[in-house]
Parts: sequence; structure tokens; C-alpha cells
Amino acid sequence: MALLTGCNKVRTAVFISGTGSNLKSLIKFSKSKKSPISINFIISNNSEAKGLNYAKIFKIKKKVLNFTNKKLSENNLILILKKNKIEMILLAGFMKILSKNFIKKFKGKILNIHPSLLPKYKGLNTHSRVLNNSEKYSGCTVHFVNSKLDSGKIILQKKVKISKDETAGSLARKILIQEHKLYPKAILKIFNL
Ligand code: GAR
Repeated sequence: MALLTGCNKVRTAVFISGTGSNLKSLIKFSKSKKSPISINFIISNNSEAKGLNYAKIFKIKKKVLNFTNKKLSENNLILILKKNKIEMILLAGFMKILSKNFIKKFKGKILNIHPSLLPKYKGLNTHSRVLNNSEKYSGCTVHFVNSKLDSGKIILQKKVKISKDETAGSLARKILIQEHKLYPKAILKIFNL
């Protein structure tokens, strides 16, 4: 990742689809002195995403793109990101798969958080699959995004222990708490901070 010059923070966009609790924790982090990034744009594929409320609360620009025509939405997205001088993208519960072409344009500049210990349990319904396999541990991973789903270089992981009476819901909540700590840590790590 490029070196930070002066006190300029790296202009970042966060992509969401739902609640946006990771977005909220990233906004909080971005406002701290030690953060190398500022959050300047929120993108969602879902106009009903609860997380979009944070755009209003924190006065951050936002755009909803429905991705029904992926190529059109992504072309639009590229223009928006360029216009707003966005240098980095954080996927935070973004449930659409970006095209190879889009990822190539932001090569090495897109991060994702996934609620499993990758390379195990890529894709959807992670927690129920983990429980069905009677795993003793699960966790979360922050990784660079490449053209293969949930397969880019791993930056950081956090392991959590699965309890005897664990449900998919309780595991999701337990892991989410760790996600909120792990994403900022991973950002500091890629900037060597
Ligand atoms: C998080 O657990 C995130 O890891 C997961 O969706 C949740 C979003 O929560 N992402 C994926 O499953 C991506 N494949 P949030 O909207 O409260 O941040």
C-alpha cells in the first residue's frame, strides 16, 4: 500500500448490503488520529440497507446501485469512485460479487471481511455449515479481494471458540464483535502501522 504523505488520509469507500455494523466501526476508526483512512463514500446494492443511515448520521456521501445490470452498475460505480477520488475500497457485508474487470481496476486496493477462518467456508451460510460440521472453532478473516471468491491474500484472522449450545445466530453475533476489532487492525497492518 502506498505510503501516507503528510496528514492526508487515504480516501476510502465502504460497500454494504445490510446492517452496516462493520461500516459503523470503520467510521469510528477512521475518525481516530491513528487511522490512515478516511471514509468518503458508502455504496450499497440495497436501498433498504439499514447501514445507509450512517451516511446521514456521519454526513458521508452515498449511492445505491442495484446491480441488476452488473456491467452498467459497475461502470457507473467506477465513474463515481473516480469523481470522488476514492483510492481504497472496503467490502463490509457486501453481498454482490464484483466482476474481474472491476477488481482489476482497483488491484490490491479492495479488502473484504468474511465470517469464517478462510480458506474454510467461503461463500454464504457460513455459520450453519460450520455448526453442521461440528467444528470446534470458527472466526473471521480480512483479506485482499482477487477475482476468485473469498480467496485473496489473507491479512489477519481471529479465531473464536464454539460453545456446546451454539446456534448460527449466537455464533454470528460472537464473530461480529471480533470483526469490528479485526477490520481496523488489518487496515493498520497493510499500512505498516
Ligand atoms: C458480517 O458478518 C460480514 O462478515 C458478512 O456479513 C456480515 C455483515 O454485517 N459478510 C459476508 O458474509 C460476505 N460474504 P454488517 O452489515 O453488520 O457489517
